[in-house]
Amino acid sequence: MNSKKKLIAGNWKMNGSLAANEALLKAVIAGVDDAACDIAVAVPAPYFAQVQSLVAGSAIAVAAQDVSLHQVGAFTGEISAAMLGDFGVRYALVGHSERRQYHGETDVVVAEKAQRALAAGVTPIICVGETLAERDAGQTEVVVKRQLAAVIHLNGHCISEVVVAYEPVWAIGTGRTASPEQAQAVHAVLRAQLAAASEHADRIRLLYGGSMNAGNAAQLLAQPDIDGGLVGGASLKAPDFLQIIAAAR
Ligand code: PGA
Repeated sequence: MNSKKKLIAGNWKMNGSLAANEALLKAVIAGVDDAACDIAVAVPAPYFAQVQSLVAGSAIAVAAQDVSLHQVGAFTGEISAAMLGDFGVRYALVGHSERRQYHGETDVVVAEKAQRALAAGVTPIICVGETLAERDAGQTEVVVKRQLAAVIHLNGHCISEVVVAYEPVWAIGTGRTASPEQAQAVHAVLRAQLAAASEHADRIRLLYGGSMNAGNAAQLLAQPDIDGGLVGGASLKAPDFLQIIAAAR
């Protein structure tokens, strides 16, 4: 049974300004009603305080786009999980493919980051997904299972405390979405892997990400193992983001 509330998380990436954030969030808040799904926005760290005050009293939670694998100390440029907690940050993306690709984050690093987030009371949204070359080579399952296996046993924490996002790398920012069937097939693989590790696998929200938009969200979100979306480009436009949220009821 799949009765949990869906989660739509916007990933702003390195976009935004004080003025743009305010306009965007005011429009989103004005368009969201009480029956909406869970909503989060992953914003650049300098805007945590601004965004936190804009969303106060609304249904929108604040998310970070990354978190340090270190706890505290001489790690110039890093942001700790405790700092996220200080700002009331509810979720942190971990292992986004852009971090894996441009910052060399390995499965081990991703697992350590997820662990730090959980220890600070921040829910990690752990991203997995294959590249086009891996898909073409028939490696999709092997890759996502390896990425998920790295985080499935988090010391002292139950895997059911995390959110997992399946984001095929070839679908991110390309306008090329996985078909609902392609996405569901991978989600079913991930769900089975989670079920083998935890009796609470049904509670874990599995998000789809990669060119989700106002036009394709409803079909993707109708799949049995798709419990929400991680939305990049379309989360920067209030009408589009609102339509995706509406599709997630
Ligand atoms: P996109 O990005 O929706 O722009 O493809 C998704 C993501 O990277 O999380």
